Amino acid sequence: MKIKETIQKAIKEIFEGHNFSVDHPGDEKMGDYATNIAMVMAKTLGKNPRELANEVVEKINKNERLMEVVEKIEVAGPGFINFWIKDEVLIEGLNEMLQKDGHCADSEFMSGKRVLVDYSSPNIAKRFSVGHLRSTIIGQALMNLYRHCGAEVTNDNHLGDWGTQFGMIIAAVEDYSLDVSSMLVSDLETLYVDFNKKIEEDPELKDKAREAFARLEKGDESARKIWKQCIDVSMKEFEVIYKKLGVKFDHQYGESSYEHMMPEIIKDAVESGVAEPGEGGAIIVKFEKDGKEYMPPAMIQKSNGTTTYITRDLATIRKRLDDSELKSDLYIYEVGAEQTLHFRQVFDIVKKLWNEAGDVQYKHVAHGMMTLPEGKMSTRKGRTVKLEELLDRAGEEARAIAKERVSEEISEKIGLGAVKYNELRRSPESDYVFRWEEALSMEGNSGPYLQYVYVRTKGVLEKAGIDGVRSLHYGRDGEVMLNEDEKKLARWLVLRIGEGEMVESAAKNYAPHLVCQTLFELAQKFNGFYDRNRVIGVPEENMRLLLVVVTGLAIKSGLELLGIETVDKM
Ligand code: ARG
Repeated sequence: MKIKETIQKAIKEIFEGHNFSVDHPGDEKMGDYATNIAMVMAKTLGKNPRELANEVVEKINKNERLMEVVEKIEVAGPGFINFWIKDEVLIEGLNEMLQKDGHCADSEFMSGKRVLVDYSSPNIAKRFSVGHLRSTIIGQALMNLYRHCGAEVTNDNHLGDWGTQFGMIIAAVEDYSLDVSSMLVSDLETLYVDFNKKIEEDPELKDKAREAFARLEKGDESARKIWKQCIDVSMKEFEVIYKKLGVKFDHQYGESSYEHMMPEIIKDAVESGVAEPGEGGAIIVKFEKDGKEYMPPAMIQKSNGTTTYITRDLATIRKRLDDSELKSDLYIYEVGAEQTLHFRQVFDIVKKLWNEAGDVQYKHVAHGMMTLPEGKMSTRKGRTVKLEELLDRAGEEARAIAKERVSEEISEKIGLGAVKYNELRRSPESDYVFRWEEALSMEGNSGPYLQYVYVRTKGVLEKAGIDGVRSLHYGRDGEVMLNEDEKKLARWLVLRIGEGEMVESAAKNYAPHLVCQTLFELAQKFNGFYDRNRVIGVPEENMRLLLVVVTGLAIKSGLELLGIETVDKM
């Protein structure tokens, strides 16, 4: 239907090629949309903005298409032009949403474009951390959002399966003749942490680790076998988490898969003058402009000849640019904020190194730190609170808040929904303390609250004896007149969700929390409407049922975008 576009077009017909906004006014009483065109043009035309606004209104009042959509246009304040949408247009919008199962109109803003999301990316032989959980939940939501905006989307789990730390693990495993295949990831992590401590006392161990890593690089059988077992053991545990979270990867190219590309990348960087020799034979990239350093230098090869995390990320991009399955217009990295400098350096080097990469967009979506009230959930020293505990507890915690007796399957969905929503409702970069009371709140902005409002809508439909809603056409015969509550709800549904605004702005801003905000406000508006208006057995029944159905569908499809399932009772 594209109501906003109709307004934009009408204005563009008068003022070609000028930038102006069409937005929702902060105060609902000021209409559904407002434009600043008169204020923008007043200076250029040397006119008083309010007078100009009145002239514009006079002109667009003759625009037939616009008149089909708007009920009223008014000039307000210093020269804003406000628009009110007709009730029947809102009803039509609701019917359109019903046909689409509550989804918005197909957004075109990313159609024909390809997007790759690099997220989750845990490290082999280390426990899956809370940071990786955040990345997995947010990354998945971003993927869903971009897919919904018409993009062809793929994902890649950039596993940390390479680096000198494997030298330590291999040396320790060989030293104690351990059988990795019977170990847990937490054992491997402890092994690494302990070995690291011992190195401080016994520097010879360092050489052992270095030697073991060199053997791994050369393909030595024993070293390879231990390394491979570390991957198997880790992936087995990670898969449990992915299954729980409903996450699947199209690609999982670990850092090790780029090893063979290293010499070429380094040669390329040196020959093109992007990189240069640094201290002790290392190879570094300096970031300078007009003789001033704008970022600290990055090391792409250490003095001992080994490559770094940065070099592997450069190779990753090279591969993604060359491989037709990975090649994209936009690459999104959902990784912790502590890697901000890393990605700024990587993206900057790529721009310097490869021309064609210039048309491509790289975006680091950085998440902050999540902590438990007891303190940090994850520390460098290896004292990680078991993440599985958080996920396992979710179901139990949820059962306690359900009003009815619910199955394990349902409580699991509520619990996981609570954890995911609690993550997604704030902007990714925010730091926060995880609290079950908040995640499970039945009054506040939480997953269970939205799931509950969805159940409420289902209850109404059941009472009305409605099944197979899509085959029905709602709407009141004759002239449509919505009361205040109906109107508030209908506007929110159609203009914020149905028209595609929620999904588009969440995708464009890499901000799944905008979906949460919109859904929460929808739930509030629905409750207001439902508490004050009878639905069944009144002359307005059809139209009110339409509002109920579409609210339910919008919550369901909105939560789906966030990777959260709805339940039928709770
Ligand atoms: N494995 C890394 C870590 O846990 C995250 C990798 C993120 N992705 C990337 N392409 N660097 O810190």
